[in-house]
Amino acid sequence: MAPGQAADGLTIGLDIGTSGAKGLLVDPTGSVVAEAGVEYPLLTPRPGWTEQDPEAWWQATLTILRRLAETAPRPPLALGLTGQMHGATFVDADGAAIRPALLWNDQRTGAECDRITDLLGAARLRAITGNPALTGFQAPKILWLRAHEPEAYARIARVLLPKDFIRHRLTGVAATDPSDAAGTLLLDLAARDWAPEILDALAIPRDWLPRVCEGPEITGRLSGAAAAATGLPEGLPVVAGGGDNAAAAVGSGVVREGRGLVSIGTSGVVFVHTDRPTVDPSGALHAFCHAVPGGYHLMGVVLSAGGALRWYRDVIGADTADGEDPYDAIQRTAAAAPAGCDGAVFLPYLAGERTPHMDPDARAAWVGLTLAHGRAHMARAVLEGVAFALRQSLERIAALGIPVDGLNAVGGGVRGDLWRAIIAAALDQPLQRLSAEQGPAYGAALLAAVGAGVHADVVAAADACVRPAGPAERPDTALRAAMDPAYRAFARLYPALRAARG
Ligand code: XUL
Repeated sequence: MAPGQAADGLTIGLDIGTSGAKGLLVDPTGSVVAEAGVEYPLLTPRPGWTEQDPEAWWQATLTILRRLAETAPRPPLALGLTGQMHGATFVDADGAAIRPALLWNDQRTGAECDRITDLLGAARLRAITGNPALTGFQAPKILWLRAHEPEAYARIARVLLPKDFIRHRLTGVAATDPSDAAGTLLLDLAARDWAPEILDALAIPRDWLPRVCEGPEITGRLSGAAAAATGLPEGLPVVAGGGDNAAAAVGSGVVREGRGLVSIGTSGVVFVHTDRPTVDPSGALHAFCHAVPGGYHLMGVVLSAGGALRWYRDVIGADTADGEDPYDAIQRTAAAAPAGCDGAVFLPYLAGERTPHMDPDARAAWVGLTLAHGRAHMARAVLEGVAFALRQSLERIAALGIPVDGLNAVGGGVRGDLWRAIIAAALDQPLQRLSAEQGPAYGAALLAAVGAGVHADVVAAADACVRPAGPAERPDTALRAAMDPAYRAFARLYPALRAARG
């Protein structure tokens, strides 16, 4: 690198998300210089199946990178990749996708998960990978293809995670990073490399899998063809990057033990950094590597968080005043009900639940309604129910002895004052909002900046770029105490409703 280049070096972060891809151009102070996004469809060929066409990711990538190349005031120094975790992209010897990719929220592999657990034993699987076999993970999808589409299976040369399919197209190199690889169920969590015992047991050839490189490591360089197609420089370094939650954590400054993240998008995530691999014996928390080299994280996933409020908006409706945002209107309505909702409780399991129940068939409910309850109670119960679900994840993290000293808070759900106050009180943690809230692509750009030598390491990059926005929201102890009876009822309701299902 020429002297002084790092000082004003721009880097690109590219996120291959579920609803679309997003690219950012970021400078060394963390300012976003340009951004571009392209949406693509989610395919649901059958109930419970979710797929996406890898060519749609690639076309979106080309559009985004071209736009960033056009707007960049100077050529970028490196590119970092992130994306939806767990997906299986089956690639043939020519690098073409054999069929649509199976995504993280696909539920078709229940039988394959049982088979994996039988072959390895639940305890051994957890000891090696840190996790139980879950339908969304990549390994059961490989077994599903073998059983159900043997002709497609016979053509496999590689199995790649979504962002790594894009890397392969950009650079010709098959590589991944430990945070994303940990979501395959094929990684040895402590060794941060593929687990031979699992590959042997499942008869998955190691040469199908990409090389595992730490998040800021340069995995390859932009090929001549990709450079011509995007307008970016040939030879541009492409760093490993991270799975979307790990990259979002880097971009939110969650890079040290003691710091956590609460993120409220469609789903809600409680994420804590750990210095050592730490496993939840119940398997309800995911134990994955972090995109910080050598680091780990534990993560609870609430499948319907912002998604529950969107459902409320669409199905029950918002009493909007002139031009008011519907989510603001729902929170204004909810504020008229008391904390604890006079005994009304909402379970947010509209799409089943991961943490803590790991139950794709869990279902949502309002419980405890009387003639005296109205829309305000119902709306507030949704806000409280999601906060209670997050509290169950955090309590599991605490039970493992992981220190949590404040949570950085990102996503649409923490913008509303009432919901943020409810979440802070339920979690009994100060919530710190951030000035730049750009999600996974931002973290990927920071990882690229480390790879390019702009920052010394990931912690230095986060310290240089991530800034708080205003004071933290302190937990209100009176509000917490007023919600506690509702939380106790919430915790008892899932087992009762589970039993009622028979
Ligand atoms: C994490 C998970 C999702 C996906 C989709 O375990 O399944 O957060 O990464 O974004």
